[in-house]
Amino acid sequence: MSLIKSGLILAGFGAAAVAGGIYFGAIHPGADQPHSSVVFKLIETARDRGISMRAQAVSVPSLGDAAQVLSGAGNYAAMCTTCHLAPGMAPTELSQGLYPAPPALTELGAPDPARAFWVIKHGLKASGMPAWGTSMADEYIWNMVAFLQQAPGMTAEQYQTLVASSGGHSHGGGESMPHHESMPGMAGGHHDDTGAAPHEHAAQAPAPHDDAGAPPHDHGAPSPTPATHDDAGAPPHDHAPAAESADAHDGH
Ligand code: HEC
Repeated sequence: MSLIKSGLILAGFGAAAVAGGIYFGAIHPGADQPHSSVVFKLIETARDRGISMRAQAVSVPSLGDAAQVLSGAGNYAAMCTTCHLAPGMAPTELSQGLYPAPPALTELGAPDPARAFWVIKHGLKASGMPAWGTSMADEYIWNMVAFLQQAPGMTAEQYQTLVASSGGHSHGGGESMPHHESMPGMAGGHHDDTGAAPHEHAAQAPAPHDDAGAPPHDHGAPSPTPATHDDAGAPPHDHAPAAESADAHDGH
C-alpha cells in the first residue's frame, strides 16, 4: 500500500472520529464548562488568525484627539462596561458568566488599534461580543479605540470625570437608549462602582435581573429623575415610552 493511500485512510478515520465525537455530544456547549485545551486552542487560533488577516486591511486614522477620547469614553461607559468593566469597577454578572470571558479591556495594555476596530465593528461569533458596526458609524468606533488607547493608565476618578463630561451614549443614531438631558452623568457607571450590589439577586426574583443585560445607563439606581427608571425592568430594546423611542430614532 502506498504511503499516500495509508495517509488518506488514516485521515478518513480521523475525520470520522471527529464527526462521531461531535455527533455524540463530546463538545460541551455550556458556558460554565471550559473547552478542552485542544478545542480552545483550535478556536482561539482560528479567531486570532481571522482577525489578524482582516485587520490588515484596516487603515488607522490619527487617534488621541481629546474630543475623540471623550466621545469614546461616554459610549464605552454606556455600552461596554457590563462585559468589559472599567477602572475601579467590580465584576458583573455578565463579565463573570460569559465564556469566552470578556477581557477587562481597561486593564489590558492599549490594544492594537486596527484589531480593536475590526473586533468592535464586526463583533465575534459565538462569543458575547456584538457587532457594533450595525448601529454605529466608523467614526464613533474609532473614538472608542482612541479611548481604549488611553484607558489602561486611568484611575477610577479620572475615568469617571471623563465620562461625566462626555455626551454619554451618543453616536449619532442607532442608540437603543441615547443620552437624555435629564440624566447627567448617567453613562458614568456610578452605580457600577458598587458592582452588582444594588440589584443583587434578591431571592432569584426575575425582576431584579432584568436589567443585567441592559447598558449601565438603563438602570441607574442613583439617577436623578423617575424617567430613568421607566425601563428599569425591561430588556434594552423594549423600553416603551413614546418620547424615548422617538428620541432613539432621531438620528435616522
Ligand atoms: C455582552 C458582552 C459584551 C459587550 C457588551 C461588549 N463586548 Fe467586547 N467582547 C466580549 C467578549 C466575550 C469578548 C471576547 C471574545 C473572545 O475571547 O474571543 C470581547 C472582545 C472584545 C475585544 C477584543 C479583545 C481582545 O481580546 O483583544 C474588544 C476590543 C472589545 N470586545 C471591545 C468592546 C467594546 C468597545 C464594546 C462596547 C462598544 C464591547 N466590546 C462590548 C463581550 C462583550
